[in-house]
Formats: sequence, structure tokens, C-alpha cells
Amino acid sequence: MIGVSLSPQPSALSRQFVIPASFIQDLLNRVDIVDVIERYVKLRRAGANYVACCPFHSEKTPSFTVSQAKQFYHCFGCGAHGTAVGFMIEYAGIGFIEAVKDLAQSAGMQVPEIRNEQPRGKTEEGDDLYEIMLKAARYYRRQLKDAPRAIEYLKKRGLSGDIAGEFGIGYAPDGWQNLQAAYPDYHAKALLAAGLVIENDEGKRYDRFRDRVMFPIVDPRGHIIGFGGRVIDQGEPKYLNSPETTLFEKGRELYGLYQGRRAIREAGRAIVVEGYMDVVALAQSGIGYAVATLGTATTPTHVQKLLRQTEEIVFCFDGDKAGRGAAWRALENSLEQLIDGKQLSFLFLPEGEDPDTYVRKLGKDAFEKLLPNALPLSHFMLQSLSANVDLNSSEGRARMLQEARPLVKRISAPLLAMMVRKQLAQMTGISQQELDREFQIRSGAAMPAPRRAPPPQQQSIVRLLIELLMLHPEFASLADRSVLDAAAGASAINQSEFKTLKALLAAAASGATIVNWPEFFRDSVHEELLLQIEPGLLKRHEEGWSKDELSAEFRGGWSQLIRQIQLGEHVEKLKNQGLSEHDMESLRALQQHRQIEK
Ligand code: CTP
Ligand code: MN
Repeated sequence: MIGVSLSPQPSALSRQFVIPASFIQDLLNRVDIVDVIERYVKLRRAGANYVACCPFHSEKTPSFTVSQAKQFYHCFGCGAHGTAVGFMIEYAGIGFIEAVKDLAQSAGMQVPEIRNEQPRGKTEEGDDLYEIMLKAARYYRRQLKDAPRAIEYLKKRGLSGDIAGEFGIGYAPDGWQNLQAAYPDYHAKALLAAGLVIENDEGKRYDRFRDRVMFPIVDPRGHIIGFGGRVIDQGEPKYLNSPETTLFEKGRELYGLYQGRRAIREAGRAIVVEGYMDVVALAQSGIGYAVATLGTATTPTHVQKLLRQTEEIVFCFDGDKAGRGAAWRALENSLEQLIDGKQLSFLFLPEGEDPDTYVRKLGKDAFEKLLPNALPLSHFMLQSLSANVDLNSSEGRARMLQEARPLVKRISAPLLAMMVRKQLAQMTGISQQELDREFQIRSGAAMPAPRRAPPPQQQSIVRLLIELLMLHPEFASLADRSVLDAAAGASAINQSEFKTLKALLAAAASGATIVNWPEFFRDSVHEELLLQIEPGLLKRHEEGWSKDELSAEFRGGWSQLIRQIQLGEHVEKLKNQGLSEHDMESLRALQQHRQIEK
């Protein structure tokens, strides 16, 4: 487990840089992928290639192939593939920068760092919010040493000093403006932007966290981005969290993920629990692979983040009604993230217990013994659906089918979806053909979702183009960038997405080979969008689109974009000629309608 270091560290303070693509290319030319992989996986020569049992899925006969000539690995079983850098990211579970650094070091190369001009976490005044959060965490940590009441409380809850240190747990003393001791300028805008102070109507400031045990929330790179503060013993609210800030978005972050990365990889699973104390108590007892949502439901982003790092997720909730409800929401938010071969399951603890109380009472082994009893997602789903209906009546069975239908259709793992449909057919006493017909699953097709189905949310053309470029940067040569300047004012186009598209086109057109786009644009305004789009990319890969198909889609998307730009210009012109807003609305609708028909 990696502790939260509260001393100034490069990860927290000076990481606003990107690595030039040309360096990555040099690096990939210099290292030999066979050497790199052999450090972790025993390879056997087979003709021109090397093979092994795939480290990314479990198998008995080797389908993992490494090509020395192409400097590429590929698994014919699970489709994992990539370069030496990609391997390090996937296998070692480290970030892009770390992977590059690691490889560069083994090749005796120095990583050049280019500072990015739009770093994340900086306020307009130039203050670094990450640094401010780190300062606060160090301050709270120091205060804990002089707070016997808080120390006593943590001890009472079974925590050792080591574990408290590991998670950077601290204490915010009682009083209104204690943070003045940590910040010379208590009135800097940045303190407000960081969510550490609150300003009342008269403009008077006071500390948000007072007399609370403080849990720093750390992002996957080790930056402190927020805090959760618990009252000592009794009081309301029991937990107070940082507000959402430019650094901190609750629905994206998981408490304990940074500290637990190694343990998650080693265990091959992650447990999702509800509370800070659950994570810390599990770690204390030797279960380092637990993470918690931050007082929100489990979101699709949470599931997606975890599934990138592990094969198995166990959601662990209380056995009471609230726990069941939370589990059901986690299930609903997981359906579109499911991948065949990965396992999601639900563990319900006896009423009145949470992971913290359970593991403290009965220990690590007892807790881990529960895990195999967790209900697989499909069981939990069918069981819950059937619990609400009477399967002995036709009405009940019809109702079950009706309720299952939207859920089953959202399952993104084709094989699992098929198994669920099969079971559902059995439970309701109809044939699978009948069920598939009712669910409008194409007959004869093995896959539940039609391959050419449009993306679920109406995806913008710009996003589509970005996604395709991320997959195949060479498509940039199909696009005439000079027409883009006209789009700057086009109202139909989301300007921030558009800027990212332009940046991506420019980078791709330079001929750079970029393995990981979000990392390339890390800490810039483009990063967030690229991270959002990345998942769609994986999906296309799994659906097996050929490059020709994708390139056709890119050309189609590009001409549509040009049409949108021209339409925008047209509307602008009419506006200048004195058309009313209402006239223009109908014009826009008409034009859009035509585009769809084309
Ligand atoms: N939580 C929150 N805000 C609250 C209450 C809870 O954000 N007002 C979140 C916190 O992340 C907390 C988790 O929900 O860790 C679980 O809260 P709760 O069910 O109240 O946890 P308990 O087990 O009762 O907390 P503890 O063990 O610390 O007594
Ligand atoms: Mn608890």
C-alpha cells in the first residue's frame, strides 16, 4: 500500500507537464518490448514471436503474443494489445508518466518535460489549489498530534498510528479561523475556491471544518483534492465533505483508490464500501483493496475506473433496506460498463453491521470468507426482479419481463446479456426466441446490441471525430483543417469540444505517435473531455470495427461538421439581415431535419 505523503512531493506540486510525443517514439525505438514484458511474464519463443499465458485474463493455453519485429503485444483471447508503454500501464497499474519514466530509466534516457500553459488546479490569480490542499492536510495532520481527544477517538475505533499516517488522517481543531495559522493570506480567493473556508453574507470568512477528524481524499495521482471530516463521537452532520471544486467531483472519485492500487492488483479485486472508516478499518486489518464512494451512489464512472484496474468488483453494503437500495443503484449504474470476463457481485452484511464493525469483530479471514458468497450481478438482478412479482401467475411473469427488459438491454457484455436472457426466459416459462423477439433482439445475432446502433446519448459530431482521432490519429490527414477557422462563431457547435478537436488535429497532424491521449493533454483544458470519450473508444475496439469502417465514419462525420459550420454562417448572415430569433429557430430545426434525412 502506498501511503499519502504529506511532505512536498513532485506528484503533488510540480506535475503540470506533458511529455513530447517525439520522446515517446524515441523511447519505443530504444527499448525492446520482449525485455520489458519478460520482467513480469515468462515468455516462450514460438517462431518469429514470443508467447505466454495472458497476464490480463485467465487461461490455460497461451494466446498472448509478443512480436519483437513490430514491438507490440496482442492477446488473441481477450484482445489486450499495445506497446511497451501500454503494457506497463496495464500490467503495473501505473499512470502513463510513471510508465514512461520507468522505461526511460531502464533505457538510460532522461525524460524531457514540457510545461503546459493551461495547468489544472491553478486559479486565475495563479495560486495552486493542489498545493493549498496539501498545506491544509499537513496542518490538520500536525494538529492531530496535539489533540488527545481525537487520538483517543481513533484509537477507540481500532486504528494504529501507522494506518492513520498511511491515510493522512488529521484533525481540524475547534475554532473559527484556525487556518490562518497555515496560510499567511487567509483572504486569498484560492482558499474559497479550494472549499476550505466559507464566506458569510457580510463577507466574513471562517473555516469549513471545525473540531473534526479529517480524512484527505486523494486522486489517483496522489494529489489531495478534498476532505471528509467526521465529528468526534456525537454531532450533526456526522460527516462533512469538501464541496465540489475544480479539483473535486464526488461522482468521479473513490476514497482509498490511490492507497489501495497495489493491493487491488495483487488481490485481483476491489471491494466498494460506503464509508471512509470502512476503508480504513479494512486496511487496518490487512484488506487493502477496499474503496468507498464519497457519500454518493456508485456512478458509471466509478465502475469504469475500477474495471480498468481489476477483474472483479464486490459491492459490500449493509443488509438493511438502505443497503439494498444502494446496491440496486450500483447495479443500474454498472450495466453499461459490464465487460465479459469481469465479475461484479454484491455482498450484503448482516443487519446492523458495516465492514468496519464486522472486520473489527471477526477479523480479516472471516471477512474474506464472505466474499465467495457475494451474489453475482445477474443473480442479484433476477432475484430482485422476481421478488416483486408472483411468478406463478401469467400477470406476474409478464410484469417481470416488462421490468427486466430495459435493464437487460443495457447490459454491455454480450455473453452475459445472453445468459441473463436465457435465465429470464426459463424463469418466465417462455422460449428464448420468444423472449428475444419481445426484447427486439435481432434473431440469429449472437450480440444483443446491434453493432451499428447509434451511441446511447446523442453524441455530438465533434465528439465523434475526437473519438475516431484518438483511435486513429492518422485520420487527421483526411481533414482539411483550414475550414475550421470559420467555426469559431458557429452557435450549433460546442466551442470547448471544438477547441479540443482542433488541438487533437494539430497534435495528430504532426505525425506523433501518441498512445494515451488524455495523458498527452494532461493538466490542460482538454484532458477532462478526452477522459470522458476514452471509454467509447474501448467499446469500438471490442465491437471489432475495421479501420476502413472507422475511416468512412470519420469522413462522414467531417462532412457533417462542415455542413454545421456552413449552416452557422448562414444563420449569422440572416440574423444580420434582421430575422427574428423565432424565425431562426424554425430555420435551424428545418436544416437539422434535412441533415438527418440526408
Ligand atoms: N456520508 C457523508 N455525509 C453524511 C453522512 C455520510 O458524506 N452526512 C458518507 C461518508 O463518506 C461516510 C459514509 O457516507 O463515510 C457512511 O456514512 P454512515 O452510514 O453515516 O457511516 P457510519 O458507518 O455510520 O460512520 P461511522 O462508522 O464513522 O460511524
Ligand atoms: Mn461505520
